[in-house]
Amino acid sequence: MCGIIGILGRHEVAPVILEALRRLEYRGYDSAGIATLHEGLLERRRAVGKLHNLSDLLVTAPLRGRAGIGHTRWATHGAATVGNAHPHRAGRAAVVHNGIIENFRALRAELTALGKGFESDTDTETIVHLIDMHLSQGLDPRAAAAATLARLEGAFALCLLFEGEENLLIAARRGSPLAVGHGDGEAFVGSDAIALAPLTEQITYLEEGDWAVLTREGAEIFDATGAPVSRGQVRIERGAAQVDKSGYRHFMAKEIAEQPALLGAVLEAYRVGSSQGLALPAEISFAGCERLVLVACGTAHYACHVAKYWFEQIARLPVEIEIASEFRYRDPVLPERGMAIFVSQSGETADTLAALRYAKGKVARVISVVNVPTSSIARESEVALPIHAGVEVGVASTKAFTCQLAVLLILALRAAADRGHLSPEAMMARLAELRGVPALMAEALLLEDQLAILSSEIAAAQDVLFLGRGQMYPLALEGALKLKEISYIHAEGYAAGELKHGPIALIDGEVPVIVLAPRDALYDKTMSNMQEVMARNGLVLLFSDAEGCADAEGIWRSLALPTVAPWLAPLVYALPVQLLAYHAALARGTDVDQPRNLAKSVTVE
Ligand code: G6P
Repeated sequence: MCGIIGILGRHEVAPVILEALRRLEYRGYDSAGIATLHEGLLERRRAVGKLHNLSDLLVTAPLRGRAGIGHTRWATHGAATVGNAHPHRAGRAAVVHNGIIENFRALRAELTALGKGFESDTDTETIVHLIDMHLSQGLDPRAAAAATLARLEGAFALCLLFEGEENLLIAARRGSPLAVGHGDGEAFVGSDAIALAPLTEQITYLEEGDWAVLTREGAEIFDATGAPVSRGQVRIERGAAQVDKSGYRHFMAKEIAEQPALLGAVLEAYRVGSSQGLALPAEISFAGCERLVLVACGTAHYACHVAKYWFEQIARLPVEIEIASEFRYRDPVLPERGMAIFVSQSGETADTLAALRYAKGKVARVISVVNVPTSSIARESEVALPIHAGVEVGVASTKAFTCQLAVLLILALRAAADRGHLSPEAMMARLAELRGVPALMAEALLLEDQLAILSSEIAAAQDVLFLGRGQMYPLALEGALKLKEISYIHAEGYAAGELKHGPIALIDGEVPVIVLAPRDALYDKTMSNMQEVMARNGLVLLFSDAEGCADAEGIWRSLALPTVAPWLAPLVYALPVQLLAYHAALARGTDVDQPRNLAKSVTVE
């Protein structure tokens, strides 16, 4: 989703802003732009599509100056056109913005009535017209910004640049994350630490409602009431932004391949290998917990869906799984003696964050499972459990999924022990099995060449179905999501038993049906559903273990995965499912790491 950068530098800033925008590319965008001040005058360049279009434009029409702002835009209000790209400008002010100004229609009508001419279809443009109006009324930039912020409703982050003010940036955060970077005679604003990491080692995360006035001499921060506040600085590694593909063709390929090692690291971090017991904060206790609510979006939601089975089967704890965007608007009845867990890779997903805020005070404990420990969701939850996946760049989540699963499984085991459903011996046996998973994942990755062939065979399909029972059902949902996200093939995941209640109507000789069926207690049932597909000429591709594949006759294609204890199968089966989508996308020539229309971090509702 939109990325923001602002720099008061000592040298020319346009190339530095462009580099920062490259680091923000992973968030997803469809246009980009930069504005700078040169000899006091504001100039901007904007381009649709990938950043090379903007950098090409800067070659023919360079931007000079030591102060500037930049933006990658993920279109919400108004198509991806040059006119809608940021920075937006009115009079002396320019702005880059992430989020939505919810009252923009009323503001636009008011400003239009005052004679302001709008150049774009965006909500953002209202911000600079308000600023311009206040500046024309004689307010200085700081007062104009304060007056403007007071008029804005919605969730947003923004950064303002003013003509004639070579030593001033004003930044504000309400709902969307924003950080201020401190330099020696320099100052920075960025959407995240990755944007700022090579520029500075000291950053301050703005808190909800904060706004900041930056000069090269330092930053003054004010809270929502306008009172000056002191916010701590955190140190970031300059190398934090050095995420590279390490020789892989795509970040997604690298992130898939990292999973065995990362899973080992997660297990280590939570001391799954030690006899001292799991390393979880003291606040995590499931004794007396009457119900668990798991809330997330996208792939993280499917991780919750898998985890529901663990919490219910191993810990006998009732679980509700919730899509974050639906959660609070339903006015759900929450268990006073329950626990709510919010799962998010980025820790910034607007719906998940809003759901967390809704649940606070209504349940006994609010926990998050996050990849970015400095994120809003991590900071606003009572306990934040890191998944240790490292920076995930591919828009389609892969390694975060399996690391989320690992942390949720560790919590389920703790819940089982706390609730008296797992003796110390049984716990040790479970942990020993869990420690075997990274090796099984590594074995599963060896199937990549076979998966590449299978993917090329499904790449021409218009529709693909994924079927599974038990924990393979949410994995079928995740498999379908992965495939549609990056290859743009229409795909649906179904509980295998549900097939005959509708989706079977889609089956013909053209529709590949991926059946996820380890040899477990539900295998025979899934095989029956598979037969129903085959009886209608469906092209079945079975993912099972060697025994499961041997028992299934007459199928179109099969892939023998490592044999794994049924309760751990989701962690292993996730990898071939991801690789299938990856190779299908390669076969179709799509943009694997930045698929069209998608954003990595969804900071709007
Ligand atoms: C976006 C991403 C998905 C991700 C979802 C939830 O849609 O493209 O990969 O699963 O957001 O994101 P979160 O950061 O909250 O896990």
